[in-house]
Amino acid sequence: MYTEKVMDHFSNPRNVGTMENPNVVVKVGDPGCGDAVLIFMQIKDNVISDVKYKVYGCGAAIATTSMASTMIKGKTLEEALEVTDEKVADALGGLPEVKMHCSNLAATAIRAAVTRYLTPPEKEKCD
Ligand code: FES
Repeated sequence: MYTEKVMDHFSNPRNVGTMENPNVVVKVGDPGCGDAVLIFMQIKDNVISDVKYKVYGCGAAIATTSMASTMIKGKTLEEALEVTDEKVADALGGLPEVKMHCSNLAATAIRAAVTRYLTPPEKEKCD
């Protein structure tokens, strides 16, 4: 039911862990299943120089977050914002239909982290 790539990233997740001094850290949850990702990014000169995460979720959530992390490490913020749930699933050779929503978690976490970095809370408008 899962591709070899999914099983590989699930069994040996890349970039997993935490970070001492991230430029941004964001937690994103899937309200449907309760799974969550805590993502850390080190950003320098508009490039994501390092990314770490903790994922609390199913096997597909672990595999998709791992794959997504490899797709943004060393990339610009603009390139990271182009990472969608479909692109993450495609990079893994596909996901079973019922697990497609799991790839949303990582893509949403990446967008949330980049957005938070570009618009920190103190700069957000409150009107
Ligand atoms: Fe929740 Fe997969 S079942 S992310």
